[in-house]
Amino acid sequence: MIKNLIVFGTRPEAIKMAPLVKEFQKHSEVFETRVCITAQHREMLDQVLSFFEITPDYDLDLMKPNQNLYGLTADIITELKPILEEFRPDYVYVHGDTTTTMSSSLAAFYSGAKVCHVEAGLRTFNMTSPFPEEMNRCVTGVISNIHFSPTETAKQNLIDENKNKDSILVTGNTVIDALQFSINKVNANNFVDEEIEQLKDIIRKEKRLILVTGHRRENHGEGFINICEALKEIATSNLDTQIVYPVHLNPNVQKPVYELLNEIDNIQLIPPLSYPAFVWLMNQSYLIITDSGGVQEEAPSIGKPVLVMRDTTERPEAVNSGTVILVGTDKDKIILETKRLLDDKDSYENMSKLHNPYGDGKACQRIVRYISKNGK
Ligand code: UD1
Ligand code: UDP
Repeated sequence: MIKNLIVFGTRPEAIKMAPLVKEFQKHSEVFETRVCITAQHREMLDQVLSFFEITPDYDLDLMKPNQNLYGLTADIITELKPILEEFRPDYVYVHGDTTTTMSSSLAAFYSGAKVCHVEAGLRTFNMTSPFPEEMNRCVTGVISNIHFSPTETAKQNLIDENKNKDSILVTGNTVIDALQFSINKVNANNFVDEEIEQLKDIIRKEKRLILVTGHRRENHGEGFINICEALKEIATSNLDTQIVYPVHLNPNVQKPVYELLNEIDNIQLIPPLSYPAFVWLMNQSYLIITDSGGVQEEAPSIGKPVLVMRDTTERPEAVNSGTVILVGTDKDKIILETKRLLDDKDSYENMSKLHNPYGDGKACQRIVRYISKNGK
C-alpha cells in the first residue's frame, strides 16, 4: 500500500484538491489516502467539503479571526508533527501557494515524506505580488520532490530554476476537473441547490450581470478603496447593469466593501457562495471583475471575459489568449475597461471566446497514474 496524506486549508485549495482526493479514493486497492485540513479557512472551506462530500481524517481547526502569517505558519508546522509521525505517509500532497501549502510542505520534508506540489511552477517573478504567495510557491518548489504543473509555461519556469525535468509532469489544472465535477453534479436530475434558487430571486434578468470577487492581501487598504469607488461609479452610471459581489470573509475586505457599497440599488453584496452556486453565477454573468487566481482559470473555459484587479499574473495563458485583461486597482482603468466591454460589441465578442488553456479535466487521473507507476 502506498500511503498518501493530502493537506489543504483554504477554499481554493479545497476546490482544486477535492477531485484528487476522489481519484485516489477510487484506487483504494493501491493507496491508503488520508485527508488533513488545517482549516486556515473555516466556513469557506466547509462549504467546499460539504459539496464534494469529503470528510477529513484530521481537522487542525486553526483559523483565528483576522489571523496573521507568523502565528498561522508556526501552528501548521507544530500541529502537523504528530499526524506525520503517527501516519508516516510515503507522499504528502500540497497545493498552490498559501500559508498552508508552504508550512505543510516544510513539515512534510522534516518528516521524511516525499512532497508532491500540485499546481507547481506558477511565477510572477515578483516576491511582493502576490504577497506572500510568490514566496510560498517558490519555497514549496524548493522543498518538493515531484512537481505537477498545470501548463507547459509553468513547467518551463521550474526548468529555468534548475529543477530536474524528470520530476515535473504537466497535468493540466485540477480546477478544470473540479469545474466539470460541479457542472455534472448540478445538471443531475435530482440535484437541488438552495443557494442557486435564492440567486434566481436576486438576479434582475433585464440587467447585464457583473460578477465581482476580491481578497488579495496586497490590495487591502487603498487598493480596496479604489476598487469600491470604481464599482460604485460603474453601477451608478450604467443602470442597465447589476453588480453581484459575494464578499470574502476576511475582515480587511468586509469592512471597506460593506461601508462603501452597501446602499446602492444595483449592487448586491452577498456572503461567499458554495462552489456550485458560484459556478452557476459565473455562467449567468456578462463579465467578471476579480483578483482571484482560480476564477481567472475557470472563466476562459466558460467563455467569460475577466478584468483582473492585479498588476501581475502568474497565469499568462489566459491573458495571451485574450480572455483576461489586467487592470490593477487603478480606479480609472477599471472603469474604462468595464465601459469598453459594456459598450463595444467587438471587444466583448473577442474576449468571450471559449478557450481551454488550463486543462481537459483529467489532471487528477494523470497524477494518480504517475504516483502509481512511481511506487513507494
Ligand atoms: C488566503 C490565502 C490566499 C488565498 C485565499 C483564498 C495566505 C497567506 N492567503 O487568503 O493565498 O488566495 O486564502 O481565499 O495563505 N475568514 C473567515 N472565514 C473563512 C475564511 C476566512 O472568517 O472561512 C477570515 C478570518 O478572519 C481569517 C481571515 O479571513 O483570519 C484571513 O484568512 P487568511 O486565510 O489568513 O487569508 P485570506 O485573505 O483568506
Ligand atoms: N468561489 C466560490 N465561491 C465564491 C467565490 C469564489 O466557490 O463566493 C470559488 C471560485 O470558483 C474559485 C475559487 O473559489 O474556484 C477561488 O477562490 P479565491 O478567489 O478565494 O482564491 P484564489 O483562487 O485567488 O487563491
